[in-house]
Amino acid sequence: MKYHSFIAIALVWMGCSAGPQSGSESAKANTENQNDMEKYADDPNSFSEPNKVATTHLDLDIDVDFDSHVIAGTAIYDLERNEGNELILDVRDLNIESVYDPDTDENLSFKVDKGNPYGDALKIELEDGTKRVAVEYATSPDAAAVLWMDPAQTNGGTAPFMFTQGQAILTRSWIPIQDTPSIRLTYSAEVKVPKGMLALMSAENPSEKNDSSLYGFEMEQPIPPYLMALAVGDLAFEPLGERTGVYAEPGMLDDAAYELADTEKMLEAAESLYGPYEWGRYDVLILPPGFPFGGMENPRLTFATPTIIAGDRSLTTLVAHEMAHSWSGNLVTNATWDDFWLNEGFTVYFERRIMEELYGKDYADMLKELGYQDLTRTMDELGWDSEATHLKLDLKGKDPDDGMTDVAYEKGSLFLQWLESIVGRERFDQFLRNYFEANAFKTMTTEEFVKYLDAHLLNELDERPDVEAWIYGPGLPEGYPVPSSTLFAKVDSVLTLWDSGNLTAQDIESDQWSTHEWMYFIRGLPKDMGTNRMAALDKVFDFTHSGNSEIAAAWYELAIQNDYRPAFPELEKFLKRVGRRKFLKPLYEELAKTDAHKAWAMDVYRQARENYHAVSVETIDDILDWDKSNS
Ligand code: BES
Ligand code: ZN
Repeated sequence: MKYHSFIAIALVWMGCSAGPQSGSESAKANTENQNDMEKYADDPNSFSEPNKVATTHLDLDIDVDFDSHVIAGTAIYDLERNEGNELILDVRDLNIESVYDPDTDENLSFKVDKGNPYGDALKIELEDGTKRVAVEYATSPDAAAVLWMDPAQTNGGTAPFMFTQGQAILTRSWIPIQDTPSIRLTYSAEVKVPKGMLALMSAENPSEKNDSSLYGFEMEQPIPPYLMALAVGDLAFEPLGERTGVYAEPGMLDDAAYELADTEKMLEAAESLYGPYEWGRYDVLILPPGFPFGGMENPRLTFATPTIIAGDRSLTTLVAHEMAHSWSGNLVTNATWDDFWLNEGFTVYFERRIMEELYGKDYADMLKELGYQDLTRTMDELGWDSEATHLKLDLKGKDPDDGMTDVAYEKGSLFLQWLESIVGRERFDQFLRNYFEANAFKTMTTEEFVKYLDAHLLNELDERPDVEAWIYGPGLPEGYPVPSSTLFAKVDSVLTLWDSGNLTAQDIESDQWSTHEWMYFIRGLPKDMGTNRMAALDKVFDFTHSGNSEIAAAWYELAIQNDYRPAFPELEKFLKRVGRRKFLKPLYEELAKTDAHKAWAMDVYRQARENYHAVSVETIDDILDWDKSNS
């Protein structure tokens, strides 16, 4: 094939003016094909205009090079052409080497238009007969989606590791792609990796290494681009049930399998609630601790943090959550990131229903109350009147990652609980089952959801409840269901006694407490307890050395607030090892509040920063004013 001269990403920063155009304009132009043309929502966070030309299948052929930290190869797309002669792909920091028609081998003209800090537009001129397009490309070693890890950053310590994180709009930094959740595509891939390593994707996966170091993948169901995912490392597999299993580094595999033993039961419970699992297998990949999230719902293969391996199966709600996304999110997908609550709010509601099926109402009630604590804390931070507390967001011109808060998760889930309380659980479950079935493999805007809700549920009621107040209004509407747990009520009485000074640490009756009661207890302790009382608790319960990441993280936050220095060496180790943003953010925020703590945090961060994925780095850089202090 002939090489096109490489057109460098424009050097001149031209501002954000080159926003994506409205897909609905083209819809108006073609009345014949109205339905098809309006199929793709107008997404403020993508340049791709799929209403004109959309990609329907991706065939990926890539090489993963750990020496240069580069993924390079060819992406071939099948096209659905509705209008015009231009295919637009989102790209970020990619080197585009050539673009051609793989059926004729003819080069196609292309240019990269500068977009905004989150990506640029690769514009490809199509011939009238072009049905497929091939893009030869290489990633930057700093690709925002990818974390490259040295052996020291893994559990085994002998082999390097890499993984990608696509959501929300990072896939464009490792594959040129129409990076909007409003399109879906199937994919196949061939991935070449170094000897002795296994590659896994959000697709049909191998269960063991082979000698060729070449792995083939197939994803037959159409998925949105943010669910494209790849991980490469020294990995092994253990089955958990008929359709479920776990991948992890060999040294962690047994612990992981023990922890996730109930995964098959969760899948059965999920199906009995909301209908058949549509993705074939459900496996979990336990990543090294640098993974920036608790979990990521990559189809067929959830990516998960090792911080859920507590030894007592107490943090497996996360698996129920990512599994629930197989319905809410992966099957029925938010059309744009403004509709993010449709993914996460439904999933949190669903996750707690799974946990209730398996472990009972008391268990689910604890999860709901802890979630409510998270929500009120977030609303306090954002301001209860702020637009950021609306379910429907407005992310135009923003990095969607900045707009994604607990509001989508917890207010979204509370909204569904409220609907459930109005129509009754049985009716609501039936509604949800139908909703998933009727909209499977489709995308959904908030407005389409409201229409569906009106037509299939609210029409049965004498009086239409005010759903708009929840979706387009701030804070929490009057009359919302306040979560409360009877098990936590018991912890409350202990907290009251402790507060009044009439209880010693030894006398705290905690034999029956689970991780969730401990979390509630630590969250409820006074922020100004003083180091003596902290030490008294630590002496009896040794929170500082807790192997449970949730308990440890809650305790470290309190340790910072109380300037309880004996916990700082363990806090330092935690911050250097764990890259999970949910833990890092509150800890660094707390540390940034006093000069002395901030100086200490800067020192730690200087060493920890390279262990973190870009999404965590961006957040912590901001909290510590890293750029200013290090420029
Ligand atoms: N899909 C999210 C993770 C995500 C959200 C990645 C937004 C990028 C942008 C995932 O399902 C999730 O919500 N994970 C949670 C765990 C869950 C139990 C609330 C997490 O990572 O903490
Ligand atoms: Zn989620």
